[in-house]
Amino acid sequence: MSGAKEAQGASAEAIQAHYDVGNEFYALWLDETLTYSSALWDSAEDQRPLAWAQHNKIAWHLRSAQVEKAKRVLDIGCGWGAVVKAAAAVPTVEHVMGLTLSQAQADHILRDKPAKIDVRLESWADHQPAQNYDSIVSIGAFEHFTKPNDDAAAKIAIYRDFFSKCRGWLDPKGGMSLQTIAYGKLRRDDPNVKLMSQIFPDSDLPRLEEIVVACDGLFEIVMVRNDRVDYARTCEQWANNLRSQRKAAIALVGPEQVARYERYLKLSAFGFWTGNITLLRLTLRPIE
Ligand SMILES: C[S@@+](CC[C@H](N)C(=O)[O-])C[C@H]1O[C@@H](n2cnc3c(N)ncnc32)[C@H](O)[C@@H]1O
Repeated sequence: MSGAKEAQGASAEAIQAHYDVGNEFYALWLDETLTYSSALWDSAEDQRPLAWAQHNKIAWHLRSAQVEKAKRVLDIGCGWGAVVKAAAAVPTVEHVMGLTLSQAQADHILRDKPAKIDVRLESWADHQPAQNYDSIVSIGAFEHFTKPNDDAAAKIAIYRDFFSKCRGWLDPKGGMSLQTIAYGKLRRDDPNVKLMSQIFPDSDLPRLEEIVVACDGLFEIVMVRNDRVDYARTCEQWANNLRSQRKAAIALVGPEQVARYERYLKLSAFGFWTGNITLLRLTLRPIE
């Protein structure tokens, strides 16, 4: 692993302050895969459990990025490793690289010395792969790439830099899959944006049109889905889990931290239900 340098968007310190709260804390309320992003159900009526819907989401992204025929896979913002592990289990895959800014996450993935998997404590902005990739997946990291003070032009420039780098690292016949929260009806100056930034400091959400402009000429957008109801349901389940584990959570991180997360999860669920914020999943193909 290399050391994390300053990232565009949220700094390594800001990300670490968030995730290095401790793996045990997140394990109390996330599902067993420790996936920290929206799940994917087949419909709003689908009552299968959260862990099933997280596996379903991961399978969707592996298909979206064409991992079934890939040898080399990159996961940008790999969290606690659910996607890198799933990709490494695909028969064609020889090597999976995960990038994260969190030491606790990297340690968690590497503790059992998994075959085929490498994790770097590194921002995408500093990544320089020795060889290209056949598939790139990025789930729930794009939200951290810009800062609240960046204006629209600065945001688009950073996103374009991200897509240019991904395009440069990807085989021309490869595939990319991206998942991110985005602004819906909510405006940037809404007071609720400030509240959310207490949990994710230094970060700002994209708007769909910024993504479209930023990848123009680099990637073809094959599919965009807005699955905000899935994220509303995911946040509600996390909030219920955290409530039922409140005593243990307070023992780990203290009452203020737990109250902040409870507020954040409630607010996020409301934001997704109302369409103030949305959840985008994009299938992208490099333009040759
Ligand atoms: C909300 S978590 C999502 C983790 C995982 N993809 C999942 O779905 O469970 C965001 C992840 O993005 C990573 N991240 C944030 N900014 C990053 C950057 N500039 N470069 C690489 N990873 C970054 C964080 O370290 C963290 O692993």
